[in-house]
Amino acid sequence: MAKRRRTDVTAGQWTRLTGAARAVRRRAYAPYSGFKVGAALLTHDGQIVSGCNVENVSFGLTICAERGAIMGAVARGKRRFRALVICSGSGVGPCGACRQVLAEFSPQMRVRLVRPRGEDFTESTIAELLPGRFDKSTLSD
Ligand code: THU
Repeated sequence: MAKRRRTDVTAGQWTRLTGAARAVRRRAYAPYSGFKVGAALLTHDGQIVSGCNVENVSFGLTICAERGAIMGAVARGKRRFRALVICSGSGVGPCGACRQVLAEFSPQMRVRLVRPRGEDFTESTIAELLPGRFDKSTLSD
């Protein structure tokens, strides 16, 4: 049997992450768009941190689920992530702004897009979702 790498995500972890993303989606505050999103991050040390979208009557102040999850994780001292599950009614991928924020910490993290019910998902990585990202190395002049 092949040795499991530390960065691997087990079937059990995917199941827990998917459950967390689906559960937190129900807490989304989305009275204006009606589009609820849940996101659950798996940290490098096996913890789960989740977030949901929070809208505001001043529409531009809305925070996406993915960024909510990242902010919560960093506040808990977590900056390395193995995986992310995003749950929405249509199973869409993260917006461009969230891709950039996710890439700041772990561009190689695996991302699964799921719906509230069913087994279907699509999987990729943040690096694949954001080719040519604005990277720390591009800051020097
Ligand atoms: N939304 C997310 O939470 N994540 C995304 O990646 C895309 C959009 C939210 C923001 C807003 O509350 C609603 O979905 C409709 O755009």
